[in-house]
Amino acid sequence: MTGRLAGRIALISGGASGIGAAHARVFAAEGAKIVIGDIQEEMGAELVAGLVADGASALFLPLDVTSEESWKAVVAETVSQFGGLTSLINNAGIGRGKDTESESVAGWDKVVAVNQTGVWLGMKTAIPEMRRAGGGAIVNISSVYGIIGSAGMVAYHATKGAVRLMSKAAALEYAGQNIRVNSVHPGIIETPLALTLPDEYIADLKGRTPMGRFGRPEEIARGSLFLVSDDASFVTGSELVIDGGWTAQ
Ligand SMILES: NC(=O)c1ccc[n+]([C@@H]2O[C@H](COP(=O)([O-])OP(=O)(O)OC[C@H]3O[C@@H](n4cnc5c(N)ncnc54)[C@H](O)[C@@H]3O)[C@@H](O)[C@H]2O)c1
Repeated sequence: MTGRLAGRIALISGGASGIGAAHARVFAAEGAKIVIGDIQEEMGAELVAGLVADGASALFLPLDVTSEESWKAVVAETVSQFGGLTSLINNAGIGRGKDTESESVAGWDKVVAVNQTGVWLGMKTAIPEMRRAGGGAIVNISSVYGIIGSAGMVAYHATKGAVRLMSKAAALEYAGQNIRVNSVHPGIIETPLALTLPDEYIADLKGRTPMGRFGRPEEIARGSLFLVSDDASFVTGSELVIDGGWTAQ
């Protein structure tokens, strides 16, 4: 590893599992101090214990991304423990397989609260600390489903599309303050979330992916690593698609 994130303090929402956990491992290996915020406390604490055993500075904090109070507490504790906050990965997200007619208001509201409001609250809470640190970088994890449609996941598409444009709006708001905001759009990635899908749906998604396989969580984290690092110093308001060619068709 090359210490590309030396001196960075990174908060990863939904960092206990899947793509978020891969971000924690990759960022820690590149020298960042890591804060994992998640509702899955046991898994998050276990991951942090492993990172610390490997020599990283890492912390688990309980975070419910739907709650502004919870975000405030986590950002305050991050600053108190590590002295600031420079990087935010808004990764926490949930899936939901309901189409336009079968979706309920309660189901819709839950997906919006986690996938959409959660991302906005994360940016709202972290940005003042990034300004104090002299700058920062935010990566919002959307999906290819924030760019193209599919049948049967209406609320998920709505929220992931919102994340794409919310990222561009915030990028424009903070472009003059050395705070960069980009979105990442994974295709089908091998995580607990994806593996809850029915077998025939998984086979169909693999079939749509020209590279013929699931992506690995680390392959998403490496894209975010670029966006958070100085290598991307002129990249803001951009969208990085990591999908094995799916949306090139
Ligand atoms: N896996 C894929 O194929 C895929 C594809 C495109 C986009 N994504 C996106 O990637 C992100 C990570 O997904 P994943 O596949 O790693 O899923 P995952 O289920 O493995 O991880 C999601 C994490 O978010 C956490 N979380 C859920 N609700 C939360 C809340 N209210 N507050 C805090 N944390 C909460 C979960 O506890 C979990 O640890 C999500 O935003 C997802 O939509 C995943």
